[in-house]
Amino acid sequence: MSRSFAGKVVLITGASRGIGRAVALAFAAEGARLVLAARSAEGLTEVEQEVLTLGAEALSVPTDVSAPEEVAALVGSAVRRFGRVDVLVNNAGIGKVGEVADGSFAEDLRLTQSASLFGMISVTQQVLPVLRRQGSGAIVTMSSVMGRKAFARFGSYAIVMHAVSAFSDALRQEVAADGIRVSVIHPALTATDLLRDADVAEMPPPFRHMTPLSPDAVAKAVVTAVRRGQRRVVLPRRANTLLLAEALSPRLGDLVATALTKRRIAALLGMSSGKTYHETISVPST
Ligand SMILES: NC(=O)c1ccc[n+]([C@@H]2O[C@H](COP(=O)([O-])OP(=O)(O)OC[C@H]3O[C@@H](n4cnc5c(N)ncnc54)[C@H](OP(=O)(O)O)[C@@H]3O)[C@@H](O)[C@H]2O)c1
Repeated sequence: MSRSFAGKVVLITGASRGIGRAVALAFAAEGARLVLAARSAEGLTEVEQEVLTLGAEALSVPTDVSAPEEVAALVGSAVRRFGRVDVLVNNAGIGKVGEVADGSFAEDLRLTQSASLFGMISVTQQVLPVLRRQGSGAIVTMSSVMGRKAFARFGSYAIVMHAVSAFSDALRQEVAADGIRVSVIHPALTATDLLRDADVAEMPPPFRHMTPLSPDAVAKAVVTAVRRGQRRVVLPRRANTLLLAEALSPRLGDLVATALTKRRIAALLGMSSGKTYHETISVPST
């Protein structure tokens, strides 16, 4: 097995479950030392145990990324323990399903941007001076396919994911001369707890037949993005069909989004190949 991150310090937010947990295990398998952050101390302890089993060092710091003083304490603890940060994975976030006309829309947007956007900005701003002092490092931000094309019933999430994507684009150009590389990941629907509370009927229509990505597949792409310095990664690659259609014209983008509601077309576009999201997450992950 390659251990190309041996000794590197990787700080991951949202590491208590889902994609963040998978990213932690993937970097641990590559020999990295890990700083794990999320609100749930219990979830972090479980992931820390898994990481230790792989022979990696880990520091868990229960942190709400929307609380700037907790973020400062997180980065302070990481630097005290390991002396540096080589990779920051900005992954913590939430997602709400609902239409623009819903009474809860503005509040859903506020909650989502507090965790997924302002939390990420806060962590990045605290880590950046460390990376600049070192003259090296990598920052990965977790956006979504929704960060390039919004689906109906997923507006609050898509607004925030577009902002995360734009943040990453601006940051990448600002820090390139400092030896810091910035990657943004745009996964399609992934089999995690993010949308567990949404009923099948409430889901954004193109998601209904979609087979979710595995968190491990997303984690593998994160490790590869850092290793290769990839600026933008869309998962699965065939989701680029949707993004290309949207870039050409919103009419074409909407046509592809509508076509995805049909299982046969979703399968043709490589986004439906087996169990749907709710069928997948109903099986407890091991
Ligand atoms: N699942 C998908 O379909 C999908 C697709 C594309 C992109 N994404 C993105 O991938 C990222 C990870 O999501 P996931 O799918 O793995 O969902 P998840 O299983 O619900 O995990 C979310 C993680 O973020 C943490 N978190 C949430 N709010 C936080 C806060 N205020 N401070 C610190 N940590 C916080 C959670 O831990 P605590 O609750 O313990 O704080 C948890 O560790 C998110 O940014 C999401 O937008 C997900």
